Amino acid sequence: MAANIHPLGNSTLGRKDKESLLKQKGVVVWLTGLSGSGKSTIAQGVEQMLHNKGAITKLLDGDNLRTGLNSNLGFSAKDREENIRRVAEVAKLFMENGVITICSFVSPTIKIRTNAKRIIGDVDFMEVYVNTSFEECAKRDVKGLYKKALAGEIKNFTGLDAPFESPSHPNLIIDTTNQSIDESVDKLFNSILERIN
Ligand code: ADX
Repeated sequence: MAANIHPLGNSTLGRKDKESLLKQKGVVVWLTGLSGSGKSTIAQGVEQMLHNKGAITKLLDGDNLRTGLNSNLGFSAKDREENIRRVAEVAKLFMENGVITICSFVSPTIKIRTNAKRIIGDVDFMEVYVNTSFEECAKRDVKGLYKKALAGEIKNFTGLDAPFESPSHPNLIIDTTNQSIDESVDKLFNSILERIN
């Protein structure tokens, strides 16, 4: 804990005030899965559906955050931990303002996700595993990264020479191999509504 810091206490406007103004509950929807597994596509689809229903949302996405707030971070285990720590703190700020906050990050290890959950809080952390296999991601290779990684041009690539640990008890598993994008988005949308209503 830093010295000489005096955070504002309960006298300031709080989460309940924000939620009652917005007439919705804040939550963090955390999508984890390999690069190219479909996280961002599903996150964008579900954000659009929530928006159409009149909900206030915020999408935080790995590739985007890494061009700004986290542009000084790479893909070592230590940098990924710091990446996710910052993202979780930002997500919490949005969530406490009543915003449905959708986070789309590889977040590859149990340690990293446990830390995110600790920062955000159990009750407000909805873990969604976008379970697309390495082989399927490599086959789709939307960004061309698998080709480069398999040729040895990218180091510490998740699933190849950097670990991906599947979540053991996610709140939801999405199978993008056997269902369409629309089906995946619908499933997540319904699951979020169940969680916040
Ligand atoms: S995380 O591991 O720290 O959670 P994050 O979600 O922010 O990763 O960023 C992942 C994205 O960075 C991937 O979707 C991909 O586009 C890109 N990327 C570049 N290098 C790597 C790498 N070595 N491993 C995984 N993703 C990478």
